[in-house]
Amino acid sequence: MHFHIMTLFPEMVMNGLNTSIIGRAADKGLLSIEAINIRDYAFNKHQSVDDYPYGGGAGMLMQAEPVYQAYKAIEERINYEHKGDGGGCEEYMPKKPRVVYLSPQGDVFHQKMAEELAQEEDLILLCGHYEGIDERVLEEIVTDYVSIGDYVLTGGELPAMVMMDAIARLVPKVLNNDSSAELESFQGNLLEYPQYTRPAEFFGKKVPEVLLSGHHKNIEKWRREQSLIRTLERRADLLEKAELSKEDKEFLKKVEIERKKTE
Ligand code: ADE
Repeated sequence: MHFHIMTLFPEMVMNGLNTSIIGRAADKGLLSIEAINIRDYAFNKHQSVDDYPYGGGAGMLMQAEPVYQAYKAIEERINYEHKGDGGGCEEYMPKKPRVVYLSPQGDVFHQKMAEELAQEEDLILLCGHYEGIDERVLEEIVTDYVSIGDYVLTGGELPAMVMMDAIARLVPKVLNNDSSAELESFQGNLLEYPQYTRPAEFFGKKVPEVLLSGHHKNIEKWRREQSLIRTLERRADLLEKAELSKEDKEFLKKVEIERKKTE
């Protein structure tokens, strides 16, 4: 997986990721991250990349040309590298890489989206600044508009880093424990069950007995039930999309009856 981040603040992205698990995965060659400075593609001697919006209004906009040129340079490089893989095959078709524009106007990022994007070989993340980017270049190059939540940040760098973190940890071998990426919160739209480690007692609170029993079937059943209870209590909206067995549904019905009794 190769991440290409188009940004006016390349150090912010690289410094933010270098010290993390994702940075270590990049050192091991499991993935690569490059930050492309859009300013390097400025086409005037002041290296400015912003200008006033036509029609007036507050703030400045990122201009179309430097963004487009930065994109073309990445696209060319990606295609050159793939051509190399193909052993000079004559029928080689240039690839149009996915380009994600981080914007509060996009689809809200979620785990399924991370899983889907993790299948891409190359992913370009375009970070806007100021009041945004000239619409014409977005129409030309962007394939996906993604928001990380309903709030407005000063730029797309933090959202791009959030996305990269969520996607990179799904790349095989990035996490040491292979199964942990699958078995956690949001798997099948259920939240993860509570976990405990030593000591067996803390502030007078004991670890649930079943977890000390060594009885794997009972532990599995308890964990499933805890996931269901937790999702019902904290994110009931997820239950509508969750894959629930007949036993799960019966268990949830029982929990709800109990809850009504104590209300
Ligand atoms: N840029 C500014 N705010 C954003 C958000 N919430 N998500 C993605 N990109 C953004």
